[in-house]
Amino acid sequence: RDTPLVLGIETSCDETAASVVGRDADGRPLILSNVILSQIEEHAAFGGVVPEIAARAHAEAIGGIVRAALHEAGVDLSGISAVAATVGPGLVGGLIVGAMTSKAIAAARGLPFVGVNHLEGHALTPRLTDALAYPYLLLLVSGGHTQILLVSGLGRYERWGTTIDDALGEAFDKTAKLLELPHPGGPAVERMAARGDPRRFALPRPLRGEKRLDFSFSGLKTAVRQAAQANAPLREADVADLCAGFQAAAAEAVRDRVDLALSRFRRELPDLADPVLAVAGGVAANGAIRAALAELAARHGVRLVSPPTALCTDNAAMIAYAGLERLEAGLVDPLTVPVRPRWPL
Ligand code: KG4
Ligand code: ZN
Repeated sequence: RDTPLVLGIETSCDETAASVVGRDADGRPLILSNVILSQIEEHAAFGGVVPEIAARAHAEAIGGIVRAALHEAGVDLSGISAVAATVGPGLVGGLIVGAMTSKAIAAARGLPFVGVNHLEGHALTPRLTDALAYPYLLLLVSGGHTQILLVSGLGRYERWGTTIDDALGEAFDKTAKLLELPHPGGPAVERMAARGDPRRFALPRPLRGEKRLDFSFSGLKTAVRQAAQANAPLREADVADLCAGFQAAAAEAVRDRVDLALSRFRRELPDLADPVLAVAGGVAANGAIRAALAELAARHGVRLVSPPTALCTDNAAMIAYAGLERLEAGLVDPLTVPVRPRWPL
């Protein structure tokens, strides 16, 4: 095999994941394995991710997950060209587990090490799944991040907008928690919303009409809490209506900001042969938000690229792929590179 194979490790939040990614004979990305162990069960009773529990669970699982990823790919470490790991941003305990494991493998085998920014992994996912060319506009909506990025090259990310408080997935999760729905909240809220009336509760539309491309979701969450308190005890129909109202307001916020971003994208880069809006992050699984994005893309004359959900949510294939692009560009890191719990793109 003459194309490089990268082993990638992801441990920044509540999934322990490892993957082997390379390229096929035509140079297109190839996922040879993508193994993921979710800790959802461990954290369910707490209604959110508990950092100490997460770090211990990563430490227990990582060896087996790496072995499984190699086994599934049909290679052993002698077939691997480089090791990549998420070194930030994220929960420090988990980051240390992933970084130490991958550095140890790299040191023992004399392999190059690549420290990857988790957000870069999300940002490059449309190149992994759809072999997309630079540049493209990216909406990243996950439990930890809400950003609109212009991705113009490896390591060249222009942040056009971000959240000034909660991330969108976080707002879904907190709304679910206060309505006593199971964690993670996004899918639970979406299921309830399908049975509710989005017009019953008049919820705010944060930052609507503002010219900046930023998001804000904490006021919306507070409004849901107040409406819930005013209508206590909540019956199932009330919960459904609150979920529907929340989801409609969230989708409208996304529609409003992405509409502005697409106008700017088309104005600043008018000559692209294939203008693309790509999405990444767990919230991209939401049907109402997908529908809003599809409508916007059609109206602005851009192609909507939405990778399969399993690659939109946290995974190690995106980290291995970012590592592969970095390796090919000669951007490898010394084993002394630290983990960075806070690390904007
Ligand atoms: O990308 P991801 O797996 O992890 C982070 O990097 O944060 O995203 C997880 C987030 C959670 O907040 C979850 O509630 C949300 O994505 N999510 C959804 C849906 N599925 C997952 N939010 C809304 N609707 C969904 N269907
Ligand atoms: Zn993520």
